[in-house]
Amino acid sequence: MSRSKPDGQARGTPAGPRHVAIIMDGNGRWAERRGQPRTVGHHRGVERVRDVITIAPDLGVETLTLFAFSTENWRRPHYEVSVLMRLFKRYIIREVDELDLQDVRVRFLGESEGLPADLQRVMAQMEERTAGNRRLTVQVALNYGARREITRATQQLAAEVAAGRLDPAAIDEDVISDALDTGGIADPDLVIRTSGEQRISNFLLWQAAYAEFAFVEDCWPDFTAERFAETIASYGTRERRFGAVASQG
Ligand code: IPE
Ligand code: IPE
Ligand code: MG
Repeated sequence: MSRSKPDGQARGTPAGPRHVAIIMDGNGRWAERRGQPRTVGHHRGVERVRDVITIAPDLGVETLTLFAFSTENWRRPHYEVSVLMRLFKRYIIREVDELDLQDVRVRFLGESEGLPADLQRVMAQMEERTAGNRRLTVQVALNYGARREITRATQQLAAEVAAGRLDPAAIDEDVISDALDTGGIADPDLVIRTSGEQRISNFLLWQAAYAEFAFVEDCWPDFTAERFAETIASYGTRERRFGAVASQG
């Protein structure tokens, strides 16, 4: 069972989020405010990715899920999309040794088949190289959209039913969780979105059912390790009720 079920989880004030998911937003605005092209913000944003991955285990985080490119981001100008694709590839090539050294496992969420072939290759190499690492799991959502993820999972389960391998009555919440890209990984405890926007933008719609949300004003290139630590500390003061009342304990 991979899902951290409301009824299987301790209610009350949590020790600290074990799974943090981040919508890394505001790169373009960060650059535009400085009179720079949006892509400068994406380059700067990569440095923050390195920072949060490095500090996450020290903050008690076991899983970090990062939204890097959505299924809707293809609507952006061709130039920006191509810069991003090259940046992802360069980042993976450059960071793989260091991530492996830090005992970080990387897996990708979303439809990798829709990405450039050279990027797909380095993604597969990264997953393979880090598969045995245990200190931190980083899930990078790249060409990811939650509705598409749920749609694919539904098609897969329907095909199993049609083939006589799955009884429709056996489809419960755990079966659906396991059929998603995040199968085998517990749900996020905390979802952070930077840049002041307060929306989910098709990210982890199923998995974030009982997540806490933190909307921070900093644009992603300003979201330092220190800001990350502060945001996580604020989570410790919240009370998670999972539908029950506080006094039930
Ligand atoms: C997030 O920053 C990065 C990606 C979506 C790839 P944005 O590029 O969305 O920056 P803003 O929101 O336009 O400022
Ligand atoms: C969400 O940010 C996707 C990523 C951070 C990769 P967007 O900037 O694409 O979201 P909207 O368009 O503001 O909803
Ligand atoms: Mg944005």
